[in-house]
Amino acid sequence: MSQEFTFFAQQCRARIDSTLDQYLPMTDEPTQLRAAMRYSLLNGGKRVRPILTYAAALAINPNTNLTLIDPVAAALECLHSYSLVHDDLPAMDDDDLRRGKPTCHVAFTEATAILAGDGLQTLAFDLLTKTDFSAEIQINLIRQLARGSGVEGMVLGQAIDLAAVDHQLDLAQLEIMHRHKTGALIRASVAMGAISAGADEQQLAALDDYAATIGLAFQVQDDILDVTGDTATIGKQQGADIARNKPTYVSLLGLDAARAKADELHRKALDALVTFGESATPLRQLASYIVERSN
Ligand code: IPE
Ligand code: IPE
Ligand code: MG
Ligand code: MG
Ligand code: MG
Repeated sequence: MSQEFTFFAQQCRARIDSTLDQYLPMTDEPTQLRAAMRYSLLNGGKRVRPILTYAAALAINPNTNLTLIDPVAAALECLHSYSLVHDDLPAMDDDDLRRGKPTCHVAFTEATAILAGDGLQTLAFDLLTKTDFSAEIQINLIRQLARGSGVEGMVLGQAIDLAAVDHQLDLAQLEIMHRHKTGALIRASVAMGAISAGADEQQLAALDDYAATIGLAFQVQDDILDVTGDTATIGKQQGADIARNKPTYVSLLGLDAARAKADELHRKALDALVTFGESATPLRQLASYIVERSN
């Protein structure tokens, strides 16, 4: 990774950590709910979705005041963290390790983890009402997040994923699953950054092409890391997909073809940015990071 991108990503992560801490401070409430939410949120995730949001805003306007983007980026991380807490539940993937620590339901209780996920999801939408944008833009942001995460987006993808356990999917079905469970929220992350920076329809269409492509690549790489990663680096149990008989790009295509697919998607994502100049450098670097990452 280039030093320039490493620095940009570090700065975005620092912004997001302090924004999340500010909007979900610890209090002396009598339950474990807030502690479980903070445990699942402030624990060293890669913050790829917020970084995409900042990078998309900068692609549209390199002089964007990133303070305006902070609540939008934080909303995406809250939504994503909720999806991970629920994804790990015994009724779903039944995983014990997340971001190098016991999963939320292991560290707390299953009921607390369900409620922490619920709380993170609603906090995400609340954050979108705390921006300084016009009402029209705020409603657009809320709609993007609802679509990306709901019954037309991530939640549908998760339902397809669970229905596919022990079943053989063909490549087209696998792609539909990945585009929903992971791609949809990544598309929302890019669109929301761009909308916040005042993107026009043409710019939004080009960025959506980029985001859909890199969103699919993100899950292809996640599938690859389940096989090639080690538990300490990926912060979750290596081999969990195989153990649970999940259809993945690797189980369907094999490792080499899955890698080739990720490379092809990387190239396509860069192609989608041809109409952008220097301002899209962070988005280009993110595309490389997404397929080269080791965790
Ligand atoms: C993991 O997401 C779940 C998928 C959608 C593949 P990330 O790989 O972004 O996980 P964190 O946020 O860095 O922990
Ligand atoms: C997760 O997909 C997609 C989500 C919406 C959270 P995975 O089940 O492959 O994610 P990991 O591998 O547990 O992080
Ligand atoms: Mg899953
Ligand atoms: Mg999982
Ligand atoms: Mg996975």
